[in-house]
Amino acid sequence: MEIVGLKERKNAVILGHNYQRKEVQEVSDFLGDSYGLSVQASKTSAKVIVFCGVDFMAESAKILNPHKVVLHPNLKSKCPMAGMVDVKGLRELKAEHPGAPVVSYVNTSAEVKAESDICCTSANAVKIVQSLPDTKIIFVPDTNLGLYVQRYVKDKEIVFWPGYCPTHMGIKVKDLEGLKEQHPAAEILVHPECTPEVIDYAGLAYSTEGIIQHVKASPKREFIIGTESNMLHRLAKEAPGKVFYGVPNATCPNMREITLEDVRDSLVKTQHRIELPADIIKKARLPLERMLRAGR
Ligand code: 13P
Ligand code: SF4
Repeated sequence: MEIVGLKERKNAVILGHNYQRKEVQEVSDFLGDSYGLSVQASKTSAKVIVFCGVDFMAESAKILNPHKVVLHPNLKSKCPMAGMVDVKGLRELKAEHPGAPVVSYVNTSAEVKAESDICCTSANAVKIVQSLPDTKIIFVPDTNLGLYVQRYVKDKEIVFWPGYCPTHMGIKVKDLEGLKEQHPAAEILVHPECTPEVIDYAGLAYSTEGIIQHVKASPKREFIIGTESNMLHRLAKEAPGKVFYGVPNATCPNMREITLEDVRDSLVKTQHRIELPADIIKKARLPLERMLRAGR
C-alpha cells in the first residue's frame, strides 16, 4: 500500500490512538492510549512521527522530541476538553491556592502543561495524585477524572476545573441499562471521563488501553463498552471470539477528523508540522517526563 512505502522512504512511524477510524488504525505502527503513545513517542528512533490523534497528543510528541519532525495529518482534529482550560485562568486558580501543585491531564495545550507541575493520563491519574506529598492538589481540566481520582485519594483536597469531555458526558446510565437488559451476561467497562453515576453503574473504569487489557484477561465473553465506539475495532482484533456492544452515538468527531487520505498527504507533503516555542517546550517537558517516569 502507498502509505507503507511512503513511511519507509521517509523513515516515519505512525502512532495511532485507539479512537482513530479503523482504516487509520490499520496503517498505524503502534496503537494505544495517551500514555502508551507518549511512551512510544519518547523512544522512537524514526526521524518523522505522524501522530494520528487529537492536537494535544501530537504536541506532546513534539515536546518529547523537539528535534524530530512531528506531523499532525489534520489540524481540525482538536480535543474540545483541552480547549476548556487556558493559562490565564490556571494562573488565577494557582494564585487562589498558593503552593498547591498543578496536575494537568494530558488533554491540555502545551502552554497549560508549561504551567503545570506534573501531567497524568487516565491510566495513571490516581497513582500520580497519590504520589504527591501535598494535601491540596489543583487538577485540570477534567472534573470527572478528578472526581474519579478523589474516590481513591481520600486524604487530599482536589481543586477542580470545570472541564469535561462532550463524548463521555453523552454516555448515560440509561444507555448502559438498555444494553445490560439486552445482554445480561455482559461486563460493563467505561472510561473515567464518564460521569460518576455512569462509573458507579459500570463498576469498572479504565483508560482505553486498560479496557483492552481487562477484556483480554477477563473470563467473560461479552462486554458493554462505554467509550468512543472506534475502540470496538481494536477490541475485536485484540480479543477475537469475544463480543462487544458499544453505546449508540458514543463518538468523538474530533478524533474522526483524520482520514487515510490525510495520513497519505501528511507523508507526501510533510504536513502539518507541529511547531512550538522553545521556551514552552522546555517548560512543558518536565511535567510530561515526570508523568512518564511515574509509569502506569
Ligand atoms: P486514553 O488516554 O484513555 O486513551 O484517553 C484519551 C482520551 O482522549 C479519552 O477521551
Ligand atoms: Fe477529547 Fe473527549 Fe475526544 Fe477524548 S473523546 S479526544 S477527551 S473530546
